[in-house]
Amino acid sequence: MSSVSLDSSALEKLLAAAVAAPSMHNTQPWRFRLYADTLTVGIHAAAERALPREDPDGRAVHIAAGAALLNLRVAAGHLGWTPISRLLPDPGDPTLLATVRLEGRAGPLPAREADLYTAIFRRHSSRLAYTQRPVPITVLAELADAAHTEGARLTVAEASAAARLLRLTALAERRNHGDPHRTAESRRWTGSEAGPETGIPAEAFGPQDSFEQLPVRGFGPPRSPDRPPSRPFERHPALISLTTAHDRRADWLRGGQALERVLLLATADGLRTSLLHQALEWPDLRLRLRGAAFPYEHVQMIVRLGYGPEGAPTPGRAAQHFLDAADGTA
Ligand SMILES: Cc1cc2nc3c(=O)[nH]c(=O)nc-3n(C[C@H](O)[C@H](O)[C@H](O)COP(=O)(O)O)c2cc1C
Repeated sequence: MSSVSLDSSALEKLLAAAVAAPSMHNTQPWRFRLYADTLTVGIHAAAERALPREDPDGRAVHIAAGAALLNLRVAAGHLGWTPISRLLPDPGDPTLLATVRLEGRAGPLPAREADLYTAIFRRHSSRLAYTQRPVPITVLAELADAAHTEGARLTVAEASAAARLLRLTALAERRNHGDPHRTAESRRWTGSEAGPETGIPAEAFGPQDSFEQLPVRGFGPPRSPDRPPSRPFERHPALISLTTAHDRRADWLRGGQALERVLLLATADGLRTSLLHQALEWPDLRLRLRGAAFPYEHVQMIVRLGYGPEGAPTPGRAAQHFLDAADGTA
């Protein structure tokens, strides 16, 4: 059994991994607390970084926090611990989304887990056009196993399901642009209105698909000079859905962990990824997505995968910015 102490450099590494997780509009809606006496890190929701119009139930916050939790677990393994996580451990504190207690580890880290650690810092959304090169079935099967490990189901969309996912996403995209409250909220987090190291800079926006088939999220006003010119995207995008059997807060956190495990493994395998979440932000459209995912399950994310150019990195705030002083035990 190895025992490793948690010094400030190790804590910084854990948090740097956690905050490299994806979050809707790069809001980074988390705060962390260290309970040093029990070697436990708490992940809290940051209310001031919520999206009340686009994410009124906080599902997207839980997905992001789940992704941060997965990164923290992977980093803990890399640093020599066994992470013991609990979801929603305190019914009296709904802002505490998860805790990770660090235990000494016996035995080496499985090889694939080591690959995931380096992928944490290489993963970025790529909203650019991908090539036509298909994603091998063996890779898709490995990604499905990864989602399953975290309590979610990955379904690869065959042609008619992919067409349905794209249609519903395009409909959501049109609705988003027609909704002044949602538009105002998303603009506060994107382009020149975003704060430093927060939100999505114009360089990461990506072009629109000149075939008008792939509705990548259009950030900023439709004819904004911040938007790069349209270009042809891949004709047969590889789309997967992640679903969970239930739709409670713990399932959203599981969905976020599954999402991040899939994204990291895809990155380690040389794939690019981007997310199509628009239809999940409208309850009626989210329900209709089920028909193209896994019927009777709850869709937590649609992911586009492929080979192509790297996306522009989106800056995040330094990890220590998100660390609160602990005021009790977890
Ligand atoms: C719940 C959730 C929803 C998201 N929705 C979208 C989306 O619809 N379109 C998109 O391009 N990116 C989406 N993203 C990705 C974020 O914009 C991205 O993670 C963030 O800007 C940080 O950039 P990075 O992924 O390059 O680190 C979403 C991320 C999360 C966690």
